[in-house]
Amino acid sequence: MLHKLGFKKHSKKLDAQEQREQEAIKHPIPKHVAIIMDGNGRWAKKRALPRVAGHHEGMKVVKKITKLANRLGVQALTVYAFSTENWKRPKSEVDYLMKLPEEFLDTYLPELVEENVQVRMIGYMDSIPEHTKRAVKKAMEDTKGNTGMILNFALNYGGRAEILDAVKQVLNDTKSGILKEDEITEDIFSKYLMTGTLDDPDLLIRTSGEIRLSNFMLWQLAYTEFWFTDVLWPDFSEDHFMEAVEAYQKRSRRFGGV
Ligand code: IPE
Ligand code: IPE
Ligand code: MG
Repeated sequence: MLHKLGFKKHSKKLDAQEQREQEAIKHPIPKHVAIIMDGNGRWAKKRALPRVAGHHEGMKVVKKITKLANRLGVQALTVYAFSTENWKRPKSEVDYLMKLPEEFLDTYLPELVEENVQVRMIGYMDSIPEHTKRAVKKAMEDTKGNTGMILNFALNYGGRAEILDAVKQVLNDTKSGILKEDEITEDIFSKYLMTGTLDDPDLLIRTSGEIRLSNFMLWQLAYTEFWFTDVLWPDFSEDHFMEAVEAYQKRSRRFGGV
């Protein structure tokens, strides 16, 4: 009897989530969602656990939200996993963070392949440890034929450095004659950024109550809708993601018009 009741309750909850998703897809779904996954350390601290326990818990949330976003028809999901400033953290924490992509991909890559997800990365690949690079490259290779959602890891990523590097490349290309000065439009400049041909994010989510960008996608977020929550990343659930999408659907985007 108890078992039966438990099962009933569970299936009822699934139905509610399914219904919510069905309702949401009747309205415009953000094509590109970007997330600043913050609050792992505080989540761990609240439980008297080491900070890395928060990072480990946060990894599971990435998988859950990837699946949900893919189901909803989101075309790209960019997740900020490590900033160019995060090297300032204690070496033990940095080492752990650099092992996470490997652990994430070892555990979930088959599932991502099955879900038709394409793994990509933005950030300075050259200065991450060899083992991390190998895992990310393998994931990109194994999923490059997939046609579903792009799961884009921002790893060792910094918005200002990205813009500066784009400027330098543009200068080089004008010097060598590949590009003429009057051809440098916003669209062309965007192609020089790490996001390349990816559309700008429609929706940015930041968890943990911090209301700042922390050097994330400074160019690309010019007209993005922002959604902040106090929820810490390891506690971020499907309900919270739906809340963000539903809030996005109620926004009126004017892009400077009326
Ligand atoms: C986000 O959680 C993950 C990374 C920045 C790598 P934090 O580690 O920043 O967690 P808090 O902000 O200290 O709680
Ligand atoms: C931003 O979070 C970077 C990531 C989520 C990877 P931080 O925790 O590093 O940002 P600040 O230091 O609070 O601005
Ligand atoms: Mg933080």
